Amino acid sequence: MRTVKTLGLLGTGVIGGGWAARALHFGIDVIAADVKPEMEAWIRGAVANAEPALARLTSAPLPPKGRLSFTTDLAVMAARADFIQENIPEQLELKQRMLAAVSRHAPADVIIASSTSGLTPTELQRDMVAPERFLVAHPFNPVYLLPLVELVGGAQTAPAATLAASAFFRYIGMHALVVRREVPGHLTDRLQEALWREILHLVNDGVATTGELDDSIIYGPGLRWAAMGTNLIYHLAGGEPGMRHMLAQFGPCLKWPWTRLEAPELTESLIDRMVEGTERQAAGRSIRELERLRDDYLVAIQQVLRQYDIGAGATLRALEERLFADAGTQAGALAADPSLPLRLVETVVRPEWVDYNMHMSDYNYYRLLGNAVDQLYRKVGIDAAYRSAGHMFYTVETHLMHLGEAKVGDALYVTTRLLSVDDKRLRLFHQIHRTRDDALLATGEQLHLHVDTAAAKACCMDAALRARLEAISAAQSAQPVPAQAGRHVGQPKHAPAA
Ligand SMILES: NC(=O)c1ccc[n+]([C@@H]2O[C@H](COP(=O)([O-])OP(=O)(O)OC[C@H]3O[C@@H](n4cnc5c(N)ncnc54)[C@H](O)[C@@H]3O)[C@@H](O)[C@H]2O)c1
Repeated sequence: MRTVKTLGLLGTGVIGGGWAARALHFGIDVIAADVKPEMEAWIRGAVANAEPALARLTSAPLPPKGRLSFTTDLAVMAARADFIQENIPEQLELKQRMLAAVSRHAPADVIIASSTSGLTPTELQRDMVAPERFLVAHPFNPVYLLPLVELVGGAQTAPAATLAASAFFRYIGMHALVVRREVPGHLTDRLQEALWREILHLVNDGVATTGELDDSIIYGPGLRWAAMGTNLIYHLAGGEPGMRHMLAQFGPCLKWPWTRLEAPELTESLIDRMVEGTERQAAGRSIRELERLRDDYLVAIQQVLRQYDIGAGATLRALEERLFADAGTQAGALAADPSLPLRLVETVVRPEWVDYNMHMSDYNYYRLLGNAVDQLYRKVGIDAAYRSAGHMFYTVETHLMHLGEAKVGDALYVTTRLLSVDDKRLRLFHQIHRTRDDALLATGEQLHLHVDTAAAKACCMDAALRARLEAISAAQSAQPVPAQAGRHVGQPKHAPAA
């Protein structure tokens, strides 16, 4: 299967727009096709709306954004795409017809996936050319922030197609959950639907309002679900004996009339109650306002989960590892002359990095130094294995000097010089430059101490690591020591460093 440089989208509504925003953000070009020409403006707006939240998701170095193009001709899209994602309305006959048409135009090594919420892949691939490259890839709204994508193969799907699709979705920061066997509704929508049917009954019977039912989730189980699903949570509910005890205690309730499986009739009065209830909950806020609120907390939750390396936070960490590794490969390739400082970070100042003066805020300078240090560590082999063996460098001192202003949209790069290395210490000197004119905007000098993390004490670094660091430092010593190195706070700008 192909390396995906261009994602083709068929259908550019809510879900097509979400796919576009995610793919473009992680450097994939997108060619979007829709029957309605007016959807071009819509998808461009959807991508712009997604950007602020996406930009806050990670500070790991990102590749240049992908380019978005639009067509009303599915043949044009199919001929240019390396991977095609279909997102047209949930109607079996329409999807079958359009997927068959796309498959006639797309080369046989281009995977075609459907975002269908519940149709099965065997039905959908029925009339396709090369149906073995087809599968369901069911995402969740907003696609640009929720990492889950359910992958479901049909009777004719080749396992290699599912594997290749998993790799692509992981590349754009998603958690690919491979569903073992096709069932209508896949996995997640079956679970959501069960809850949804019960909600409709409770509203219909006048037991609760939509707001009360949402409260019953958001103050309780909803908080647990972000990191541990129902099963693991119930295992904890069983106390020390876990799930076995839980089933013994609450098993009999399964026979009691706590839930109904058949959905109620969607009568006019039930529809009115649902609509009036949710309008009251929205309390005058527009869909756009609510979406922004939702996006902000989805970003924040994933960043919290990242600290615990659990659920969607583990997916975010894996994405960041990949982004840092890719940026490191590019940085390594740039360092042609070993006597020059290492060029370790390339970035663009994001809107949320600036303060009320519209200049990059202090803590973002530290963030860039941190990113440069992380890149250096990767380069010299300080990786997860080194850390889990109980060793790491801790930053014990930083001196930052501001020389210019970084504004929103400025491309920046960071270079790093290893001023000295000994058994336990590493002295670094970073320079933050504006890419456009190479202007020096800030310098940062740091002392890092090698520590035994269990004992929380300084200790000698591994001899091979020290040799690698010394080799870089020795090669760089051919250049004069930077004028700002060794300065103290308040020293006149042009006075030589002590
Ligand atoms: N909305 C959700 O929350 C959600 C979540 C996951 C999956 N899905 C699935 O994603 C798919 C799309 O849903 P949506 O909510 O984005 O729908 P939508 O109505 O917002 O968008 C559908 C788009 O398809 C276009 N379209 C219709 N016929 C077409 C054709 N023949 N060729 C090209 N474009 C055509 C329409 O113009 C429209 O822009 C459905 O299968 C749905 O089940 C939706």
